[in-house]
Amino acid sequence: MFISRIFLLLLVPSCLRASKSGQLLNYDVLYELNMKLQGLVHQQKLAAWDYETNLTDFNLERKLNVDLKLASFQKEAHLNISRYQLNSISDINIQRESQLYLQLEEEVLSPQKYRRLKQIISEMITIYSTAKICHYNNPSKCDLVLQPDIEDIFSESSSEAELAYTWIQRRNAVGPKCRNLFQEYVQLTNEAARMNGFADASEYYLLEYTDECIKEKLKHYNRRLRPLYEQLHAYIRSKLRKKYGNCISETAPIPAHLLGDISAQKWGGIGPITLPYPEAFEDLSENLKKQAYTITDIARLAEDFHRSLNLSKMPHSFWEKSIFTKSSDRTMTCHPSVWDFCDGQDFRLKACLKADREGFEAVHHWMGHIQYFLQYQSLDVKMRSAANDALFDAVGGALSIAALSLKHLKRLGLFHGRIDRKADINNLYLLALSKIPLFRSVYVALSWKWKVLSGKVKPENYNLQWWKLVEKYQGLKPPVPRSEKDFDPGTIYEIICGDSILK
Ligand SMILES: *[C@@H]1O[C@H](CO)[C@@H](O)[C@H](O)[C@H]1NC(C)=O
Ligand SMILES: *[C@@H]1O[C@H](CO)[C@@H](O)[C@H](O)[C@H]1NC(C)=O
Ligand SMILES: *[C@@H]1O[C@H](CO)[C@@H](O)[C@H](O)[C@H]1NC(C)=O
Ligand SMILES: *[C@@H]1O[C@H](CO)[C@@H](O)[C@H](O)[C@H]1NC(C)=O
Repeated sequence: MFISRIFLLLLVPSCLRASKSGQLLNYDVLYELNMKLQGLVHQQKLAAWDYETNLTDFNLERKLNVDLKLASFQKEAHLNISRYQLNSISDINIQRESQLYLQLEEEVLSPQKYRRLKQIISEMITIYSTAKICHYNNPSKCDLVLQPDIEDIFSESSSEAELAYTWIQRRNAVGPKCRNLFQEYVQLTNEAARMNGFADASEYYLLEYTDECIKEKLKHYNRRLRPLYEQLHAYIRSKLRKKYGNCISETAPIPAHLLGDISAQKWGGIGPITLPYPEAFEDLSENLKKQAYTITDIARLAEDFHRSLNLSKMPHSFWEKSIFTKSSDRTMTCHPSVWDFCDGQDFRLKACLKADREGFEAVHHWMGHIQYFLQYQSLDVKMRSAANDALFDAVGGALSIAALSLKHLKRLGLFHGRIDRKADINNLYLLALSKIPLFRSVYVALSWKWKVLSGKVKPENYNLQWWKLVEKYQGLKPPVPRSEKDFDPGTIYEIICGDSILK
């Protein structure tokens, strides 16, 4: 939810660098700009929140209008800053902040195209969030949405036929509708990249890493993870074969609908049925249920945990205005996100969580992002972002992993058994299911999107190439043959949300 995450030395054409007035940029100028920017970002966040938590056309119009206002401000600020003498600034903060103002992203497009781009992304997210399918056992009940219905089926059902049916229906309901929109998104985002002097938009998303070798490093880490992933994959395949029998071959990729998650990114759903030591397992979700925890209670636990590490208390607004569970009085996007309204007071979480292990992990994780917001809230708006998305995410990840340790759970009265080798292995196994497949899946999404943005993969091969990568890196295959009428990457949130995938 950042306006700009990129802070690279931008190569401004030298004609712009040379100042007309020769004036040196100073804090007063930046102060003025920052005050204006802060007001606009605040407005934009409020409008975006209103829209994402209540998907009406009226709210979308309002949001798009504010998006445009902010974009036109960014362009104007860019122009104004570039008129100053910037070569000889010695103050590192001024230097960096001015670079951030000079770095335009998609705002560079004409207002019409910028608006269209924002609209396309909203449309894809709305399709993703609101598409409805019918129930396997009851074909006249046709109001199943991703969260909670389809997710529940994937973590609870053990009927292969029901899972395959739901997998196919979900893809039919989302993929084809997103295909043309996605193609248009690729065109527009690439056009913006070229206007900013890049070959294509894939370069954009990597700038914040300020590392020319970032692609090579990712490949390297992906290779290093491979042996562990392969062991996990082989172990799960053998467990699933015991359960589902011959529809899973000993040597072939695993069918993607049997991993406890409609997008096969996090495999926690099959945790309970594939545990190494089921006899030593105590289910956190069960314990939370027995003790009648609500998700807000869990958020209080998370806050205590953060406080015990000398991190900050959550502000009042977090408790007053966050959305922890799906509201039934409106349609909303459920994909979890954290919000900094840029006024130093208002920080919120939006998610559709349940009081189970996943909700426990999620709240500890997302609160970590808010800690980040709180730590940099006194900086100018342009300077308020993590070093990069990956670090931003890692803070939350480290906190949630620590909070899920058996020692901590025991302290909370949420684990009663002995902490021995078996219990530890079970717990580590569940962590592995929620982290390791995700890494491979993100790698697939990244590789595919880079190929698409750079034109190496053309629309007529979108789906084919997608499944090639899924098979190569994830060792998965679709339950039924796919074609180019389908658009399976369109059912992956990270692909359609228009944001950076790498974290
Ligand atoms: C959703 O937005 C509409 C405006 O389009 C508004 O009238 C309605 O009250 C909002 N609903 C909720 C629950 O906020
Ligand atoms: C840019 O400079 C012009 C002329 O000084 C000024 O009127 C305008 O408000 C400035 N724009 C921004 C975004 O600060
Ligand atoms: C649908 O029916 C299957 C058996 O045919 C059963 O195993 C499954 O639990 C049912 N699902 C729901 C959601 O009722
Ligand atoms: C806790 O954080 C405060 C600042 O937020 C700091 O002054 C204090 O030294 C920290 N305490 C410990 C034990 O690290």
